[in-house]
Amino acid sequence: MYKIFVTRKIPEAGLNLLKAQKSFRVLVSPHDRVLTKDELKKNVKGVDAVLSLLTDKIDSDVLDAAGSQLKIVANYAVGFDNVDLDAAKKRSVIVTNTPGDLVSEAVAEHTFALIMALAHRIVEADVFTRAEKYKGWEPMEFLGTLLMGKTLGIVGLGRIGVGVARRAVHGMGMKVIYNDQRRNEDFEREYHAEYIPTLDALLKKSDVVSLHVPLLPATRHLMSTKQFALMKPTAFVVNTARGPVIDEKALLVALAKKKIGGVALDVFECEPAIDCDLTDHLALKKFPNVILTPHIASASTEARDQMAEFAAQNIIAVLSGKAPLNPAA
Ligand code: GLV
Ligand code: GLV
Repeated sequence: MYKIFVTRKIPEAGLNLLKAQKSFRVLVSPHDRVLTKDELKKNVKGVDAVLSLLTDKIDSDVLDAAGSQLKIVANYAVGFDNVDLDAAKKRSVIVTNTPGDLVSEAVAEHTFALIMALAHRIVEADVFTRAEKYKGWEPMEFLGTLLMGKTLGIVGLGRIGVGVARRAVHGMGMKVIYNDQRRNEDFEREYHAEYIPTLDALLKKSDVVSLHVPLLPATRHLMSTKQFALMKPTAFVVNTARGPVIDEKALLVALAKKKIGGVALDVFECEPAIDCDLTDHLALKKFPNVILTPHIASASTEARDQMAEFAAQNIIAVLSGKAPLNPAA
């Protein structure tokens, strides 16, 4: 009998796959919240597989608390910066993620919704209209930006970055430039995209900058004072990747000094707090050209079902002695 611990209820699509395995005993946390470290350590004791969320910090303490029989940590997320990969490797624990096509499309769609909302000032205008401030059509009210013909700079060209580029080129008639460690010539041909070898040069040219890098030591604060200063003062930044990729303090200064045109954030540096500096509570909220969504880019039913299925399939594969479908690396 293999024991599986699921740290929080996820869609049935995944749970049912696990429960259908006769040799699995599946325990789902009864709490609909993030477990404390102690609760996590207690619950993983003796299990063969942990199905974790991006809100669970899986470090050497938790791995040791599980015990040497632990074979896999299947993270229900595309990102896996919450899991200490080195510690897992040392203990021969396989780590997997859920990079499904529907997940990438969901995040790309949400990213594009944020880009359009920034350019057309949708959120500000909604707040204005709800407040019953609309008194009649105005020639100069709420002037936004046309995206057609503008340049989108993609930072990090994985599946999500490609999905955003496709929407930009085919949907809006934007020009796409991108920066990544690797060039992708097929992508360049398909989307008439241009590879920009440095982030600095990309920032200077872009009207919209969309971040799609994983959180790594090298990408922490990738966007800070110097980078915001390089941007056009009208340009937008969108972050649906991981909060710490943007230096929030530097962002607040850039917004106050009007170094950038606006920002849309689905992730936050000090998540779940929206502002790192709690003494200046909701500093970001004060700017009308800031759009905030609560880490929901992948939150469509289709994508979350697929993530649950991928996480379950990885556990099934590894506990049957097969290679994982989505090893995190
Ligand atoms: C969400 O942020 C994910 O990594 O899937
Ligand atoms: C706007 O409503 C227009 O008719 O131009």
